[in-house]
Amino acid sequence: MNGTPSPHAHAPQGAGYEVVKLDSVRKVYGGSKNQVAALDGVTIGLPRGSFTAVMGPSGSGKSTFLHCAAGLDRPTSGTVLLDGVDLSPLGEKELTKLRRERIGFIFQAFNLLPALNVVENVTLPLRLAGRRPKRAEVDEVIERVGLSARRGNRPGELSGGQQQRVAIARALITKPAVIFGDEPTGALDTYTAREVLTLLREAVQWAGQTIVMVTHDPMAAAHADRVLFLADGRIVSALDRPTADQVAERMTHLGAWGNEPAAAPGAAPHGRGARR
Ligand SMILES: Nc1ncnc2c1ncn2[C@@H]1O[C@H](COP(=O)(O)OP(=O)(O)OP(=O)(O)O)[C@@H](O)[C@H]1O
Ligand SMILES: [Mg+2]
Repeated sequence: MNGTPSPHAHAPQGAGYEVVKLDSVRKVYGGSKNQVAALDGVTIGLPRGSFTAVMGPSGSGKSTFLHCAAGLDRPTSGTVLLDGVDLSPLGEKELTKLRRERIGFIFQAFNLLPALNVVENVTLPLRLAGRRPKRAEVDEVIERVGLSARRGNRPGELSGGQQQRVAIARALITKPAVIFGDEPTGALDTYTAREVLTLLREAVQWAGQTIVMVTHDPMAAAHADRVLFLADGRIVSALDRPTADQVAERMTHLGAWGNEPAAAPGAAPHGRGARR
C-alpha cells in the first residue's frame, strides 16, 4: 500500500475499470404463491477505487444486493462479474475461494475472534488462504488503522471503534478487489462512526480500495463518492458527492422513515437513532 492502486493479478488495469458489475440481476424469494422480488432487475457497475453507499427503505433489497454482489447469494437471473470473474458458473468451493482471496467484509457486529489478539485477527485471512503474513505489511496496515499500541490486545480489551478498526485492517490486509460493508457503523456512536468512515475514505485514497457499504445513516452515506438508492428491489436514483442533508431528503421522499410528516432535511434520524 504505497499510494498507488493495489495490484490485482487477474484484473485489467485502467481508469474506470468496473470491479463489480451487475447486469439485470433479479433475486426472487418464496414459492409460486408468495413470491417476493428482492432484486428486480439491477444493472450497475462500480469503478475501482470508488466508495459507494447503498441506501433505501427497510425491505428494499439492500442486503440482497450486497449478498448477490459478494457471491454470498445467487441471483435467480442476471449476471454478477467480480473483478472480471462471472460468478454464476462457480460452485460453492470456488465461490468460497474467490471470497477469501478477492473480497473483504466488514460487519456491524465486527465478527472478530475473541481468543485472538489484534495481530492474529488481522492476519487470519492470509493464514486461512495459506499465505504467510509479511511483517512489514502487517505493521503498516495496523499503523494505518491506529492500533500499533494495541497489537497484543484481544477484542474484549478494545472499544467498539477499535474493534471495527481491527476488522477494517483484517479486510485490507489481503488487498481485496472490493470491500463490502453491511452497516459497518451501525453499532457505533456518532463520533466513533465518523472516525471509522474517515478511515474507510482514506483506504479509498491511499490504497485505491473499492468499497461498497449498506447504511441507514445519511451522515455515513455522505462519506461515499456515490449513493445508490434502492426501492422495491430497483435502483431508483443516485447521488454523486452527496451531503448528509441531500441524502436525508432523498430518503424522506422514498418514504424510508415511515409515515411521519416529511421531516426537514437534516432533522432526519442519524446514527443509532436511524430506523433499521
Ligand atoms: N431468505 C429470504 N426469504 C424470503 N424473503 C426474503 C429473504 N431474504 C429477504 N427477503 C425479502 O426480500 C426483500 C428484500 O430484503 P433485504 O433483506 O434485501 O432488504 P433490506 O433493504 O436489506 O432491508 P433492511 O433495511 O430491513 O435490512 C424483503 O421483502 C424481504 O422480506
Ligand atoms: Mg438488510
